[in-house]
Amino acid sequence: MTLLDMFPSLGSTMAPRLAPTVWPADTHYDADGRITVAGVALADIADQYGTATYVLAEDEVRGRCRSYRKHFPDAEIIYAGKALLTRAVAEWVTAEGLSLDVCSAGELAIALAAGVDPERIVLHGNGKPCHELRAAVHAGVGRIVIDSLNEIPLIAALATRPQRVLLRISPDIDIDSHPAVRTGVADQKFGFPVGSALAAEAVERVLRQPNLRLVGFHCHLGSQIHDTFPYGEAVRRLVAAMAAVRDQHGHTLAELDLGGGHAVAYRCGDPEMDLPELADVIEDSLDAACARHGFPRPRIALEPGRAIVARAGLTLYRVLSVKRIDGGRTYVTVDGGMSDNPRVALYGARYDAVLANRHPIGPEMTATIAGRYCEAGDILAADVRLPADLHPGEVLAVPVTGAYHHSLASTYNGVGRPPIVAIKDGRCRELLRRETAADLLSRDVG
Ligand SMILES: Cc1ncc(COP(=O)(O)O)c(C=O)c1O
Repeated sequence: MTLLDMFPSLGSTMAPRLAPTVWPADTHYDADGRITVAGVALADIADQYGTATYVLAEDEVRGRCRSYRKHFPDAEIIYAGKALLTRAVAEWVTAEGLSLDVCSAGELAIALAAGVDPERIVLHGNGKPCHELRAAVHAGVGRIVIDSLNEIPLIAALATRPQRVLLRISPDIDIDSHPAVRTGVADQKFGFPVGSALAAEAVERVLRQPNLRLVGFHCHLGSQIHDTFPYGEAVRRLVAAMAAVRDQHGHTLAELDLGGGHAVAYRCGDPEMDLPELADVIEDSLDAACARHGFPRPRIALEPGRAIVARAGLTLYRVLSVKRIDGGRTYVTVDGGMSDNPRVALYGARYDAVLANRHPIGPEMTATIAGRYCEAGDILAADVRLPADLHPGEVLAVPVTGAYHHSLASTYNGVGRPPIVAIKDGRCRELLRRETAADLLSRDVG
């Protein structure tokens, strides 16, 4: 029995800070010292749905959508479904006025099943298989972002009515980020380098196709960008390139899609994108670039993914063991790891973890949270502060796991992917159920 069990009132006076930058807005300790989000105790979710489990706060997702609409009232906000896509998420974001970016036939199918208007769907991808292009064209997606010369005749052949397209242009802007997510530089797999002969050829070829409508340029600079300057620079470079198209072909492009990549804090104190500042930078650079080239203001589109869903999500794990290595670390092994959160192994991402089922009181220890998977590198969080009396069966919550967690998850070691449980107004409901051994076996048809 802990001090808090004996004196629950201590919970309110001794609560450690649940930093608002990394937890959903409605996160508190309840009278029993348990963490609650949107009025639901996380320990109850762990009991009801098992662990590991992803939890997603609906109001936080909707709130982030509203924040984008407020700060960018004239822009089209296109949610990047690759961050996390289920039918419910597609419904929430589109109900909040966002469009939807999909990058595969699977994401397209989810969007359509959610009843998203195809006109509001944008198809992306540097390698779009023919059958996926066909599915998108037949569904009537609003726009396709062309990424290679090969796609041009293919889309033109598939289209039975004028298809609106954008060209993905790499603006040759290097951002300070992990190499795996630095997508604005010229020499990488996405898009056509700005000002290149390849880009000029792409424009020409699209304009020659009678049933393709070239409506704009697109770029995506990378991920976890907290500096606003690169977006201003991208506007300057792409408006110049759009003006060059007008001068050469007499064709005026009306849309400028600046992609996503807006940083969120994963741990307290991490830098994040400042939306009002970003809005100012984009406006100012648009004014200046359009004036300089005598170019009519294009409609701006933004494609945030992470910034919409990351902080709305958290993952619950149960502690399986606590192991103290003489002269080494203390390892807390949990019932999840690299298959539900591959971002640590992929990008060296850093996370915090908090005890969710009781209020920690008393001495702390520094521990490393290890996953259950058969890789020494399966570490979820290194050197985190946890209660020294932590024991198997307790529930840990890792915040900011709403984006690129379920969507990157695998079934490594034959462990099914966790469910996603949505929470709102004191209630929870499963959006995706846990993947079972039967699910895994159902694919094993050999
Ligand atoms: C074309 C495009 N748009 C938008 C995004 C979303 O990026 P983020 O989730 O970092 O906002 C991505 C991410 O890879 C992307 O490739």
